[in-house]
Amino acid sequence: MIKFIILSFSLLEVLSKTKDEWKTRTVYQLLTDRFATSTGKSSSCNLSKYCGGDYKGIINNLDYITNMGFDAIWISPVNDNYDNGYHGYWYRNMYDVNKNFGTAQDLKNLVTACHNKGVWVMVDVVANHMGNTNQDYKQNYPFNSSAHYHDYCIISDNDFNTHNLANIQKCRLAGLADLNQDNSFVSSELINWIKWLINEYQFDGIRIDTVMMVKTDFWTKFTNAAGVYSVGEVFDGDMGFLKQFIGPINGLLNYPLFYTLRDVFLHNKGMNTLESFFNNIASSFGKANLPYMGNFNDNHDNARFLNDAVTENSNFTVTALKKLQFKAITAFTLTSVGIPMIYYGSEQYYAGGNDPNNREVLWNHLDQTSEMYKFIKTINEARKTTKAASQDQIQRYADADVYAFTRGTLFAAFSNKYDKQVVKSITYHPYAEGTTLCNIFYTTDCVKVASGAFPLYLNYGEVKIFIPK
Ligand SMILES: *[C@@H]1O[C@H](CO)[C@@H](O)[C@H](O)[C@H]1NC(C)=O
Ligand SMILES: *[C@@H]1O[C@H](CO)[C@@H](O)[C@H](O)[C@H]1NC(C)=O
Ligand SMILES: *[C@@H]1O[C@H](CO)[C@@H](O)[C@H](O)[C@H]1NC(C)=O
Repeated sequence: MIKFIILSFSLLEVLSKTKDEWKTRTVYQLLTDRFATSTGKSSSCNLSKYCGGDYKGIINNLDYITNMGFDAIWISPVNDNYDNGYHGYWYRNMYDVNKNFGTAQDLKNLVTACHNKGVWVMVDVVANHMGNTNQDYKQNYPFNSSAHYHDYCIISDNDFNTHNLANIQKCRLAGLADLNQDNSFVSSELINWIKWLINEYQFDGIRIDTVMMVKTDFWTKFTNAAGVYSVGEVFDGDMGFLKQFIGPINGLLNYPLFYTLRDVFLHNKGMNTLESFFNNIASSFGKANLPYMGNFNDNHDNARFLNDAVTENSNFTVTALKKLQFKAITAFTLTSVGIPMIYYGSEQYYAGGNDPNNREVLWNHLDQTSEMYKFIKTINEARKTTKAASQDQIQRYADADVYAFTRGTLFAAFSNKYDKQVVKSITYHPYAEGTTLCNIFYTTDCVKVASGAFPLYLNYGEVKIFIPK
């Protein structure tokens, strides 16, 4: 018996994936209910309800994810939910699985299938609230008493806008029953639960929901108990506000980068906005913390980038422009410092609007030959062959038209000048004289380092990624 306990502890240590082990991973964020079905469910369904995606569907389509070059997935919260909790954020029984996605054994089979393919599994978790919006807690397990919750109040828009943490942390988000982590039963049970969840299903990392709505000292205990890499959601772009959550949580979903990339590629701010952005985020979050941020191009809480192009304007020219912009944003997300977390459907140019329209069904479009699928795959391959993700990001060029950086031998260059060709001479770079650099998207597009420099041509907002031949 003693031997068995020691063995299971040492196994746990080996299996726990730390932030440093995660920092070279590339993550595909999927919604379990929307990615793939194993039961032939129709792809047209009411997006506010369950559509029929399941764990077996993910297992059957893991190649779709790994062939695109991803080596981790982020799945929806796995526990039992109140009605219509297809997204998973409305817990009812925290020790039961959400049976709409399969059995507990199906979930274990998913994790095993992923591990067998070298894919890590990040589970989305909630510790701020339960799924009921009333004050009847009988069905909630293990928090079935009003003593486990804050008194009833609702977080207002003004509370969010003014960062009024006192209210944000004690009141309800969208009416959801707000757990009181100052109650010792609540705090210790949440900690027992996260330990159990990680150990029971062998998850490799956690994405934590609604982080700003709980005090940071609780998160320190919670993430320590989880013992795996944690990335937290604070739906806010203000670095000064966000930084208090780094430490208690390994990394945050990088909303500051998300908004900056939209400013640059969509709203035409100068490319050198990115230079000041990286200076600011390094001094605010600490440069050493940047590799653990979760960088994302789109997600389930925001209208997809391509949305306004498609719904408000059927003009093909505009749509083509948006695709260029979206490629730039996605390539930047996949190459710059941080862990990329690419939202499912990006690879098929999905364009859904606000929640739930941005949570489309994918199983009728699992096409491995689409333009964006191949684009993402090509970048993921270059990341891997150059080991870019374990290298520092060094800025190589910045002006109003062009921003470029290297990570090791990978050189990435971006422009938001969609109406012209820009030409620059790159003199600050790590390559030896005579080195030939080729564009990963068009392998015949090569340049040679001569007299210490190489030319960079960017045509109409294209992304170029050079690696040595
Ligand atoms: C979809 O489901 C939601 C939630 O039950 C409901 O309010 C809505 O009317 C439904 N939409 C359609 C088009 O049936
Ligand atoms: C709450 O759960 C506990 C433990 O399962 C149980 O003993 C108790 O009767 C429940 N209380 C209510 C109000 O349902
Ligand atoms: C279509 O695109 C062109 C070129 O960008 C633009 O000038 C025109 O205004 C667009 N038309 C509509 C209806 O948006």
